[in-house]
Amino acid sequence: MIARNTDRLTRLVNDILDITKIKSKKLQLILENADLSKIIADSVEDFKNLADQKQIELKSKLLTKSLKLLIDQARICQVMANCLDNAIKFTPGKGLIEVEMKKVKDNLVVSIKDTGIGISKRYLRKIFIPFFRVESDITRKFGGTGLGLAICKGIINIHHGKIWAKSLGKGKGTTLTFTLPLKTKKQ
Ligand SMILES: Nc1ncnc2c1ncn2[C@@H]1O[C@H](COP(=O)(O)OP(=O)(O)OP(=O)(O)O)[C@@H](O)[C@H]1O
Ligand SMILES: [Mg+2]
Repeated sequence: MIARNTDRLTRLVNDILDITKIKSKKLQLILENADLSKIIADSVEDFKNLADQKQIELKSKLLTKSLKLLIDQARICQVMANCLDNAIKFTPGKGLIEVEMKKVKDNLVVSIKDTGIGISKRYLRKIFIPFFRVESDITRKFGGTGLGLAICKGIINIHHGKIWAKSLGKGKGTTLTFTLPLKTKKQ
């Protein structure tokens, strides 16, 4: 219990630090040519257990070839972790989560689609505001802070990408999508 609460507090402090840095435009990226296919595959692997525990099927359709992009590897892992954590948290048992990545023009597009509780149209933009959480049994049960997506947006924005959510409404699942420009640093 002590270890669990220490982890929770450490995450909270780190999230508050991250959002403060983002707001004051002080978040600095450590950019390198990193393999995005591997980052996404590893993130999915990391969440397999959590999905299994809720009998949620976690599938992925990834580009298999190594795909080097100029990104901050740890920060993109952080984005994937929050998106997968949300998809699992907001999908009641026996659902399906599909992670897909594809190239569209000069961008790499990653989407995380779940069959969970969905989001009403009026909240689709608000969920990116710090501390905003849609009132539901699940948000009440799992005490998150509502910082995850605001941090994801900050991280994706400074990579010159975009992030958005789509949902057909309450109970109809959610798809979270982010893009990253397909560029590398000359070595
Ligand atoms: N996949 C999803 N399905 C349904 N609702 C979602 C989904 N992802 C996010 N939301 C809604 O958006 C809110 C904000 O998400 P965010 O990740 O910022 O916060 P959180 O997960 O509640 O807390 P934290 O990430 O700080 O632990 C959530 O509280 C939830 O109401
Ligand atoms: Mg979250």
